Amino acid sequence: MNILLLGSGGREHALAWKLAQSPRVEKLYAAPGNPGIAQSAQLVSLDATDHDAVGAFCVENAVDLVVIGPEAPLVDGLGDALRAAGFAVFGPDKAPAQLEGSKGFTKDLCARANIPTAGYVRTSSLEQARAELSKFGLPVVIKADGLAAGKGVIIAETTEQADAALGDMFGGSFGAAGAEVVLEEFMTGEEASFFALTDGKDILPFGSAQDHKCVGDGDTGPNTGGMGAYSPAKVLTPELEAEVIERIIRPTVETLRAEGMPYSGVLYAGLMLTPQGPKLIEYNARFGDPECQVLMMRLEDDLAELLLAVAQGRLAQHGPAPMTDTAALTVVMAAKGYPGAPEKGGAIGGVYADHDAQVQIFHAGTALKDGALIANGGRVLNVTALGKSIGEAQARAYAAVDAINFPTGFCRRDIGWREVERERGA
Ligand code: AMP
Ligand code: GLY
Repeated sequence: MNILLLGSGGREHALAWKLAQSPRVEKLYAAPGNPGIAQSAQLVSLDATDHDAVGAFCVENAVDLVVIGPEAPLVDGLGDALRAAGFAVFGPDKAPAQLEGSKGFTKDLCARANIPTAGYVRTSSLEQARAELSKFGLPVVIKADGLAAGKGVIIAETTEQADAALGDMFGGSFGAAGAEVVLEEFMTGEEASFFALTDGKDILPFGSAQDHKCVGDGDTGPNTGGMGAYSPAKVLTPELEAEVIERIIRPTVETLRAEGMPYSGVLYAGLMLTPQGPKLIEYNARFGDPECQVLMMRLEDDLAELLLAVAQGRLAQHGPAPMTDTAALTVVMAAKGYPGAPEKGGAIGGVYADHDAQVQIFHAGTALKDGALIANGGRVLNVTALGKSIGEAQARAYAAVDAINFPTGFCRRDIGWREVERERGA
């Protein structure tokens, strides 16, 4: 089969690497891709916002499956356009992609389907938002409704901070994404991510991971897209995972289907493991980045066949997706300045040197300049390793990090710390 993969980050490099291992794949195209993806796919220049151009490419190149990596094209309706043109697509249509595109949509769905989540109020009026604030304790969570690249969430410790955050959001600091806001009760507990593939009817559990959102060691500093991840997240025990599927994932899939907007693709549930049980923080309509990198390292299945089965509504014929019992851990090497303005153009050496066979280096924001690899974004490389334990995967990943020469880069040195501490205590 011929596949077109859309996106250019570390998530897409991991997907391309795994797709290229499938004996069923004849031709793998990627747009726009990056120098790492180019090792597994033929890069093509396509504008994902031009739905007709993507469709025309698929016709000309006999594409059998389009895999949409990032959220923006999903929320923009690229899936609908390609499906209408007769193509198999991995990734939801615009209406169900509102699970990621609108936090208010997800909260309302949780309310209709009785899904455990933080109490909330949704409003598009500053006056109403201010009036509702008094109903919440402190801290209170304030979220811009729309896509804000992970930056639209403010945890206000005082009423003054909450008031200022509301003023900022309604004042346009997040653009159209902040025209509506969600106020939420603050939940406490450990966070974990859970992934499930669904074709709108059937559900296939696809593993757990834990992300590290803060830029600095010890979970300090501003939020990022994710500085590292590991899988599995054992804190999500088999019992808790079963509860997440029955109380969160299944009612989501069934409610969307019953309401005429079946969800096809991967559901990425951000969870808070509270003393009252797992609660949904948010949904994403795509694989996590960098969580996808650790899932792909552990997957022992034909990814192309699996994603095609989802796209064609054949998940019922598929057994559980085999994942190794091995642990995987990824360290994000970012350019100095990230998550603010990252330094661009810094030289990167040692990526193509011989690394441990259990290490993969996925490219995120890289580019080639005169044949040499340089930094070209905030998150630049994802140094990913397998191990018998998270601790072993961590040691292997950092050994590879230390063999990379990236003077304008930095990384956290403590990815996986919660689980490594638990392993030490065990
Ligand atoms: P989100 O973009 O909705 O995942 O939020 C980003 C981060 O904010 C989450 O990973 C949590 O750490 C935190 N967060 C969001 N909502 C809540 C909440 N209701 N209670 C506590 N923390 C939250
Ligand atoms: N790593 C967080 C995300 O992909 O949204």
